Amino acid sequence: MSDLLLDAQQLVKRFGPRTAVDGVSFTLRRGEAVGLLGPNGAGKTTTISMLSGLLLPDGGEVRLGGQPITGDTDPRKRLLGLVPQELALYEELTARDNLEFFGALYDLAGAALATAAESALKFVGLAERRGDKVKTFSGGMKRRLNLAVALLHDPQLLLLDEPTVGVDPQSRNAIFDNVEELRRRGKTILYTTHYMEEVERLCDRVIIMDHGRIVADDTLSGLKQRRTSADRVFCELVEVRDGSWLAGLEGIAGISRAELAGTRLTLHVTDLHGGLGRALEHLRRVDVVVASVESQSPSLEDIFLELTGRSLRDG
Ligand SMILES: Nc1ncnc2c1ncn2[C@@H]1O[C@H](COP(=O)(O)OP(=O)(O)O)[C@@H](O)[C@H]1O
Ligand SMILES: [Mg+2]
Repeated sequence: MSDLLLDAQQLVKRFGPRTAVDGVSFTLRRGEAVGLLGPNGAGKTTTISMLSGLLLPDGGEVRLGGQPITGDTDPRKRLLGLVPQELALYEELTARDNLEFFGALYDLAGAALATAAESALKFVGLAERRGDKVKTFSGGMKRRLNLAVALLHDPQLLLLDEPTVGVDPQSRNAIFDNVEELRRRGKTILYTTHYMEEVERLCDRVIIMDHGRIVADDTLSGLKQRRTSADRVFCELVEVRDGSWLAGLEGIAGISRAELAGTRLTLHVTDLHGGLGRALEHLRRVDVVVASVESQSPSLEDIFLELTGRSLRDG
């Protein structure tokens, strides 16, 4: 069995004059958990819709387990489970009836369907509410049921499109625990979220999209080692009379930015070894006394900001 589960090559999707996805290629290996990040409108949902066969690409191809998928009715789709960004549930039906309805779409029936529905309900912690109509559920409970629907046919690959966004913290934790458990069970996961800490906890690799293209595809540590992302160094100054020396710091090789707030100086250092030494030497020359120095490696959020010019939360 090949290690490669999903292979997306040069995917393109246009909506009228707008190219929402513009030549996206990546692969997923079996058992891998990959984060898909990008500002709002980057093309994440459109990409996931093409992976799952909901949208046909205008260009490029998706292969699942070595074979191309050819649209919504392709039997290979059984390999994957989609948790869409928008809820797909019937409000007037009970939790249980929703599961039976969607399970039937995957040709599950009879005892097999009953067992799958019960085990999915238990897994997401909704067994007690099986007989209640979805319209009585909180937003978080609906999200959990949405996840249960995706698990009914026991897919190998889960595509999760912002499954924890906009839900109460308790449900958010419950959903995230579920996803971690699925990962431990060996599922392959593509995970879109606005929460960096979730990506740091869950993912082996991160794909960052912007304007319909992939701007980075790397491991977390690989991303953090990129030379473009600056370390931050915080200097506590003893006394600040004026900041006339500040501009001089930014001219130093290895220092990309210097900011002063009260007595706290923040340096963005692209060359920690040489740049920081030169900056401290500059401060000594202008008689600015440094009481303490503390450095911080770039966070995933910093790297995201550098690559896309936007912070993840305000999209
Ligand atoms: N059905 C559609 N019709 C027209 N434009 C769309 C449609 N779906 C998405 N778009 C546009 O495509 C771009 C990418 O959207 P989307 O894939 O939803 O981004 P993301 O999930 O990263 O926020 C956006 O500019 C969005 O407005
Ligand atoms: Mg989206």
